[in-house]
Amino acid sequence: MALKTAFKRIVVLTGAGVSAESGMGTFRDKDGIWTKQSLEDVATPEGFARNPRLVHDFYNARRRALREAAPNSAHFALAKLEQSVRKAGGELMLVTQNVDNLHEKAGSNTLLHMHGELSRVMCASCGTKGAWDEDLFTDTECWRCGRLGALRPDVVWFGEAPYGIDDIYGRLASCDLFASIGTSGEVYPAASFVDEARTAGAHTVELNLEPSANARTFSEGRYGLATQIVDEWVTQVIQKIGV
Ligand code: APR
Repeated sequence: MALKTAFKRIVVLTGAGVSAESGMGTFRDKDGIWTKQSLEDVATPEGFARNPRLVHDFYNARRRALREAAPNSAHFALAKLEQSVRKAGGELMLVTQNVDNLHEKAGSNTLLHMHGELSRVMCASCGTKGAWDEDLFTDTECWRCGRLGALRPDVVWFGEAPYGIDDIYGRLASCDLFASIGTSGEVYPAASFVDEARTAGAHTVELNLEPSANARTFSEGRYGLATQIVDEWVTQVIQKIGV
């Protein structure tokens, strides 16, 4: 593996593939979520305005599925990598497109949910945000402003700005290792992070079930199930770091 020996600043991007083996489903694979459900209907502000009940049903089901889900060995390996990097005096930022909480359950701390979180809601009327583990309904009342039906999942829909973008680009501009794990590379801006990392001179690696849309942009590709390839990669990176 052609890794720099001195890397101290790592950015890891994850997508649905890292949680697939925990039962959370992916979006664009055969049988993926967007093959059964129109994303325009359930993942856009316009869809929510048109049919909030459909949107609530969709995210309520996802939230219930998450209650049953447990982190897999890929989530645990990434938490271990973060601890090892910190111990060696470096920094690792884990940026996830996933709205599940499996990275936190596995022990990751420096984590940014760029597409929001299933277990949080926001009020489309007053903007308040908070933790939420129950179902949402079209007449659920906002605890802050009292408006009925304005609470929505705190997830970033198509046409909305992802969270933490300035922070992410700041980290990419100075990273020396960038890993993209379990993502199809179809959704921007996440799909362009590899370009930023390359410009910064970082080693870039993709770990995925199969080569993604922008696989050729990466310095290195490792393909297989996340539960098989992530742990192995993490072990090699930790050996390189020397902790
Ligand atoms: N291990 C590793 N990779 C896997 C596994 C697995 N067990 N199963 C599937 N994959 C790979 C697929 O080959 C695919 O390339 O994970 C990728 C998942 O891609 P998508 O379904 O497109 O998910 P993601 O890239 O996370 O989607 C990005 O799109 O709809 C939005 O907001 C949603 O955050 C999501 C964003």
